[in-house]
Amino acid sequence: MPYEIARYAGFCAGVRRAIEMARKAALEAKREKKPCVMLGELIHNDSALEEFRALGVRVVQQVSDAPEGAVIILRSHGERPETYEQCKKRGLQVVDTTCRFVSQLHEIVQEHTKKGLPVLLLGDPNHPETIGTAGFGGELVHVLSCREDIGRLPPLKEPLLVAQTTYPPDLWAETQPTLSTLYPDLKVRPTICTATQLRQQSAMELAARSDAVVVVGGKHSANTKKLYESCLRLCPRTCLVERAEEIDPCFANIHIENIGIAAGASTPDWSFKEVVTHMSEIEQNASMTMEDIEKTLVRIHNGQTVTGTVVQITEDEVCVNVGYKADGIIKKEDLQDKDVEIGQEIEVEVVKVNDGEGNVLLSQRNIINRKVWEELMAAFENKEYVDAVGKEAVKGGLLADVKGVRAFVPASQLAQRYVDKINQFVGQEMKLKIIDVDAQKKRIVASRKAVIAEEAAAKKEAAWSKLEEGAVVKGIVRRFADFGAFVDLGGVDGLIHITDIAWSRINHPSQVLKIGDEIDVKILSLDPEKERIQLGYKQLQPKPWDNIEEKYPVGVIIERPVVRLCAFGAFVALEPGVDGLVHISQCAATRVNKVEDVLAPGQVVRVKVLGVDPAARRISLSIREALADEALSEDFVADEIPGEEYAEEAPAEETPVEE
Ligand code: F3S
Repeated sequence: MPYEIARYAGFCAGVRRAIEMARKAALEAKREKKPCVMLGELIHNDSALEEFRALGVRVVQQVSDAPEGAVIILRSHGERPETYEQCKKRGLQVVDTTCRFVSQLHEIVQEHTKKGLPVLLLGDPNHPETIGTAGFGGELVHVLSCREDIGRLPPLKEPLLVAQTTYPPDLWAETQPTLSTLYPDLKVRPTICTATQLRQQSAMELAARSDAVVVVGGKHSANTKKLYESCLRLCPRTCLVERAEEIDPCFANIHIENIGIAAGASTPDWSFKEVVTHMSEIEQNASMTMEDIEKTLVRIHNGQTVTGTVVQITEDEVCVNVGYKADGIIKKEDLQDKDVEIGQEIEVEVVKVNDGEGNVLLSQRNIINRKVWEELMAAFENKEYVDAVGKEAVKGGLLADVKGVRAFVPASQLAQRYVDKINQFVGQEMKLKIIDVDAQKKRIVASRKAVIAEEAAAKKEAAWSKLEEGAVVKGIVRRFADFGAFVDLGGVDGLIHITDIAWSRINHPSQVLKIGDEIDVKILSLDPEKERIQLGYKQLQPKPWDNIEEKYPVGVIIERPVVRLCAFGAFVALEPGVDGLVHISQCAATRVNKVEDVLAPGQVVRVKVLGVDPAARRISLSIREALADEALSEDFVADEIPGEEYAEEAPAEETPVEE
């Protein structure tokens, strides 16, 4: 008879943990000869309780019933705060198996009511979990079990809506809008655990496609009863059993194409397996060992990568069903994707098949880390760069984060030059090249210097390939030397010699250029071997002697400064690169013995252009004539015009010109 097991069946994470903790406590108490009790039945399953009875564990209904010095096991439903107080007062050793989802609910209620604000708790008022939860908020907690309860609610300020962890999701979805309308400032925290719901849902799906269904579970368990009723509605041939021998014998005598097996969250594995074995025996008419059955169930091992479905999310962990008999837990620190949602499929690594509490310990981060490590190794082999962020300055270098993996960058590998303050790299994004790897210790040594050097070399090569003698290119003035200016051409520097900066004589490049200026330069010569680029700036500027006759026609009077004196006259700067000479005989209206008697460098004078010789690059000027012309124009006639004899005494000097 072919059988199919429901996708979600058997112990939930909370019950499994409670059973494991209780078993451990009972064994220890027995060894130490201490009395051990459980406050209420740990699980609504007689056959599971038999194991604890055999270990000497007694069920008590009140704390006061526990013997002096006993170990007291508190069940996964959780208890009221007063219960813990009583245990403390009586000196009992508490083993608290409260499910972590229930604990979270307690914390939420406590936090909200501490502010003096009310809590609306959807749930069964007689259920131990609801009673325990309400205890964490006192009178501020209003338990709502039906519509009538809502009608009786008083006006409330900022109420918080929560639910018993096993509250039916459809009822929650129905009630929430009503309460939101009633209290516009209602806050909502979903606290329903999906474990029961998933078991219910997968059992119903199974029942819908099966000829018969066996629901395995305790007859006193409300959840198992509900599971049975739901399956029965969909498949009339459904039976509820706690032990294999209770299976309807008629199942063996009639022809059934397929049979489904489902179990609630409080059904122990062994009880479930016993039923599966029995069904197999019916099918094969042969005995099948427990090991054979184990083989039919999903097996996992440490380090294995599996795909699972998120079934529950709390503040601290995510519960994942990986198809194994126990649910898996991912602690917050092992969760990479912080936005996972219930029902989402994720890839996880099995860290421990049993974390000591019966849960499978999983990690999503390990998977990501492994993938990241593989990526980093590929980058190392292919000599590719990786993106990093400086994290911490340590002795001898910097620790950087590369996709969550720590990389060490030695101080000598941080930059081209010596780095004094490693701290400056903390928080800085950078590209690194992996230069060494210790695969076993998962350690990486990386270099920023190598990246900078390689990028600069590539840039240089690209820049050189674009350069051509005679071409005019753009560059940025980077620094000055006495002999010229260095210009960045986008990866390579060229030099403008000081004589190629201006047509006139200059003492320093800063007289014409400014650091940071973007300028056009002409490539005068290239020497790739010596990596020398000679640039010209003045070559792109107009030559001052071009059109000089038009600029300074004979007879015109202009005002300019004296730049230097000599024995036979004074030089006057007309414009950069063009000086004119005022002969000593032309320096004043009257005869002078020494030029310095009437003129001084820097003095601004009015001069008349007497003659221009572009070929010889000479311009003759006269202060005397300028004065005379101006006097005439004012109807003033000079008594005496100095004689021409001086002109012969001191011929006009050639104006020195810089090419
Ligand atoms: Fe806990 Fe949910 Fe089970 S609340 S006890 S995991 S049904």
